[in-house]
Amino acid sequence: MRPGPISFARPLDAVRKTHPPNAMGKLAKAVNIADLRILAKARLPRMVFDYIDGGADDEVTLKRSVERFRDYLLSFDALVDIAKIDTSRAVMGAPMRLPFFISPTAASRLFHISGEPAVARAAHKAGIVYSISTLGSTSIEDIAPITPVPKLFQIYVWKDRGLVKEVVQRVRAAGFHGNVLTVDVPVAGNRERDPKNGFTLPPKITPQTVSQVLARPAWALDLLRQPKIKPANFAHLPEPPGGIIGFINSQFDRSVTWKDAAWLREEWGGPFAVKGVITPQDAQRCVEIGADAVWVSNHGGRQLDACPTTIDALSPIVHAVAGRAEVILDGGVRRGSDVVKALALGAQAVALGRAYLWGLAAGGEAGVSRALAILEEELVRTMALIGADRVEAITSRFIQTPDKL
Ligand code: FNR
Ligand code: LAC
Repeated sequence: MRPGPISFARPLDAVRKTHPPNAMGKLAKAVNIADLRILAKARLPRMVFDYIDGGADDEVTLKRSVERFRDYLLSFDALVDIAKIDTSRAVMGAPMRLPFFISPTAASRLFHISGEPAVARAAHKAGIVYSISTLGSTSIEDIAPITPVPKLFQIYVWKDRGLVKEVVQRVRAAGFHGNVLTVDVPVAGNRERDPKNGFTLPPKITPQTVSQVLARPAWALDLLRQPKIKPANFAHLPEPPGGIIGFINSQFDRSVTWKDAAWLREEWGGPFAVKGVITPQDAQRCVEIGADAVWVSNHGGRQLDACPTTIDALSPIVHAVAGRAEVILDGGVRRGSDVVKALALGAQAVALGRAYLWGLAAGGEAGVSRALAILEEELVRTMALIGADRVEAITSRFIQTPDKL
């Protein structure tokens, strides 16, 4: 059953009943996403926690992307009937119960043995779209039957165009809803925490990493209990030296241009998003190649450091796109009020990265569900407080941008 286009208008107090705090005590005690991050830190070896948590170079973009949301303020309408609040919103034609969804991230099994299937199940239960990374640790074919949740596949244009065609065919055969072309990884970003920690993907036990792993025995036992973590979609190809980052650098075609993006869009023919857009000019190019969604992202500050924050980049892009495609935003979203701010500035929906990964690391599927429930509660509460009884009612009228303060 796909999350249908039912009205999800519900009284505020029903939210708690739909998402009872999980029985696993620690998760229930997490009252916000920052608490889930602390639980993730306690369960993961430092190198794995830092792979999620870290960003490129001096992590300027990473830090600012989170902090910049605080510079945008929300005003409110008083005495509005908010007895029923409808949080539903579709993205690229897929109906959702909430205006946020799962962004693609590599190698989920590294963070919790339950991996991508746990995230997909939690997304299905929350009634939101799930995206799987090209570099996922579960294959297209294995994730497809897990749940009927609408799925997006995140793709790159590799050197071997035959491989791209083959993957598109597999995505189609598995019944995915759409493809997402990530365009902000012409080369891997410089995440300095990784070499400092001796981190590789998949991780290796070396004199440098052994103490980090022994300090987290529950995680280490899980790692031993599961098959080696690798890019599951390419298990049939010879393993490149340097693990997943080696794969990126060996297979990524640095000569890819918008012509190739247009080719891929044609090759696929279904709902198509371009992820990693930060300028109105690139947004315009997305529209020209017929993309259904322009995905404003700086890869969570993991690629070009000093890249502008996505909340600042959003308005000019929404203006340039002028309704010809949907605009999705990710990056730094840690609160339901961050979601409201992006919606107020014209985003169709918001994608989540670290927010759900910390939940996954903290407690598998239950942890992801906890992250989604926290954000849902915050979203509903913020909508009630500003006096918006449905997502369409969240308009720019409510937001004070930093230049107007
Ligand atoms: C990512 N992201 C990402 N994006 C993508 O297109 N393909 C990928 O394989 C990955 N892998 C990945 C791994 C990890 C550990 C993280 C944290 C992120 C980027 C992701 O989809 C999204 O753009 C950012 O995570 C959004 O920022 P926040 O929400 O993490 O602040
Ligand atoms: C990352 C790559 C794999 O952000 O997209 O880690």
